[in-house]
Amino acid sequence: MVLYMADNSTPTIIKGLEGVYFTETKICKVDGAKGRLWYRGYSIESLAKNSSFEETSYLILYGALPNNDALAKFKSKLVSYMALDKQLIGLIESFNGKMLPMDILRTAVSSISAFAEKKVYQNENDEKIEQAIEIIGNICGIVATIGAISKGRKYTEPDNTLGVAENILYMLNGNKPDEKVSKMLDVMMLLHAEHSSNASTFCTIVAGSTLADIYSAITAGICALKGPLHGGADEKALDMMRAIGNPNNTEKYIEDALAGKERIMGFGHRVYKAYDPRAKVIKAYLEEIQNGSTMEVQTLTAIALRAEKMMVDKLGETKGIWPNVDFFSGPVYTYIGIPKELFTPLFAASRSPGWCAHMLEYWQDNRLIRPLDYYNGQLDIPYVPIEQRK
Ligand code: COA
Repeated sequence: MVLYMADNSTPTIIKGLEGVYFTETKICKVDGAKGRLWYRGYSIESLAKNSSFEETSYLILYGALPNNDALAKFKSKLVSYMALDKQLIGLIESFNGKMLPMDILRTAVSSISAFAEKKVYQNENDEKIEQAIEIIGNICGIVATIGAISKGRKYTEPDNTLGVAENILYMLNGNKPDEKVSKMLDVMMLLHAEHSSNASTFCTIVAGSTLADIYSAITAGICALKGPLHGGADEKALDMMRAIGNPNNTEKYIEDALAGKERIMGFGHRVYKAYDPRAKVIKAYLEEIQNGSTMEVQTLTAIALRAEKMMVDKLGETKGIWPNVDFFSGPVYTYIGIPKELFTPLFAASRSPGWCAHMLEYWQDNRLIRPLDYYNGQLDIPYVPIEQRK
């Protein structure tokens, strides 16, 4: 393999590592040209129809679907890990109002190693899997608690008769959620649970490839997810729908934004050059909620559907810019009762099984990730003492 150009000529630089393969995986396959997605070989459509967040998380982590007993144990562990240490709750409270939920999440997750259960394991793999389950449960509990505290509520202990999505709503609002609404959140979480080597997963793996612990690696993933080009797009897409305000303003707003070379958040993807299959599932929810909900949801839904039609007609086939998973989330989360600032933290909770699974897989054949950058500045500049500088 040629690493350096012998004649010092410029090497080929692949900006954004577009099209670069850095590892092999058995976790997830994205077919960007056809708009298809599989977790561990199961199509996203079949999982969205038949599975749950807990079952899908098990599948992503262990590589196979669980039987009844294994699923019950896994679910109960996840829920038990949603319970938070008093000190961690205090930390979240101390930042309330001073930082955005996504920033509180980043800080809280970087601290969870302090509260992690210290147990003796039979082998390192058991320990790593347990840490992963603990992190997933913790993040779900932290997100719900950040939401509850920012609403002026107190921390609620998770209820072990409920699942993860139900508990998020229970801990957020303090009352048992409606079955249909919690199932919707459960599917939303499942749709976000994994997506190959996206920026946050890659960032997780880069941090973990130094053999930093899993808590540090997942914190790195959360940092990368925050940006509007990645997980933060869902909040920005809702901002746009709110700025449009009236469905009749949709086409003009989009037209003007595109003319001003603005990006429409929730559209386009580095890998999908076809309709994101996750967005199709979420769009079906939109069609379901568009008439039977609050005025706000009805308005957002109408705007989202009109914006989608216009963008698809204008940029779909011609430029390969289609809706991604983040576009339709806003109206659906609003229907579920999730405040906008919690969208990206919730995305992090949902994606945590994928981050953990990739980290565990990569560690099986770890190699430090250390690419090259091509230096194009000056060399051997004479050093001028400070008193002689202008
Ligand atoms: N709205 C309008 N135009 C868009 C666009 C969007 N959301 N996304 C890409 N484009 C256009 C670019 O302006 C560019 O046009 P040009 O060739 O005329 O200059 C072209 O499509 C290619 O864009 P590029 O930035 O090279 O694609 P990418 O692979 O780097 O972009 C994203 C991928 C996700 C960063 C990009 O589509 C984006 O910014 N989307 C909005 C943010 C978002 O929804 N992120 C969540 C992803 S799941």
